[in-house]
Amino acid sequence: MKVPISSPTIAKLISYPKLDQHEYNRRMSDLNKIGIKDAILEGPTRLCELNILGKGHSGIVLKVNPYSEESLALKIRRVDSRRKDSLNEVNNQKLANLVGIGPKIIDNTKDLILMELIRGKGISDWLDDPSNLNPENSKNILNIVYEILEQCYRLDVLNLDHGELTRIDNHIMVSEYNHIHIIDFESSSTKRKPSNVTSSSQALLLSGGSISKKICRFIEIKDRNFLLNHLKQYKKSKSRQNFEDILSLVTEKKIDIKKNSPTAIK
Ligand SMILES: Nc1ncnc2c1ncn2[C@@H]1O[C@H](COP(=O)(O)OP(=O)(O)OP(=O)(O)O)[C@@H](O)[C@H]1O
Ligand SMILES: [Mg+2]
Repeated sequence: MKVPISSPTIAKLISYPKLDQHEYNRRMSDLNKIGIKDAILEGPTRLCELNILGKGHSGIVLKVNPYSEESLALKIRRVDSRRKDSLNEVNNQKLANLVGIGPKIIDNTKDLILMELIRGKGISDWLDDPSNLNPENSKNILNIVYEILEQCYRLDVLNLDHGELTRIDNHIMVSEYNHIHIIDFESSSTKRKPSNVTSSSQALLLSGGSISKKICRFIEIKDRNFLLNHLKQYKKSKSRQNFEDILSLVTEKKIDIKKNSPTAIK
């Protein structure tokens, strides 16, 4: 459903969770400035009886149409967010964009981030989709793990710490052709020691959480202690060789397709 951005139906989303008239007016003026014409009420999240792209602790993400352009994603800072503005997030996401990471920032104001729309699913939902989880797909899953780690390595080299990759389920989206997108640079920093590769390795391979459990049905970690040692080594020196040593320990699990069950062939 497409509605004009000024529609009273979505006023509560523009100033969420409480409609503050002053904030709303300011944001409407900013939305005009950056040329947002319509909101498209579509997406997997239901909020105030409306469908949207997503909701987090700091923002509401809406599908929007700027004048004469294709659909984009608009992240609107919640009025109760602990962040006073979205500027750190914008600056760091722009930095990540320079190395091809994160949804591309198109425009922004203090409270609004207009960016590339990712037509995909969160990694957890992607892994829950049975069509992605058949045994023939272990190669895809291995490639997804490699691609996430590769993007994390690029962020490490950039000296940009994402800051929330231990909560991998909320911060990785998978789109068509299994493209990987790291999202939400709200907590990112260039002032901390980057720990993107180590945090995501932990979440994907070692934590025993729901994502790593699903992933480890399809991939094999040659030696867990070796992997831990290599991660320690990498933490000390983030060289390409040390990074590749980590990758070399993560391989495809040989799966018995006939049995159609993801167990390793002995
Ligand atoms: N560019 C995008 N394209 C499509 N969907 C997006 C995009 N950015 C965010 N989303 C969706 O909106 C959700 C919330 O976005 P985001 O994580 O940036 O908000 P947040 O308030 O910072 O969340 P958190 O509480 O996890 O910090 C995401 O989990 C994702 O589903
Ligand atoms: Mg966030």
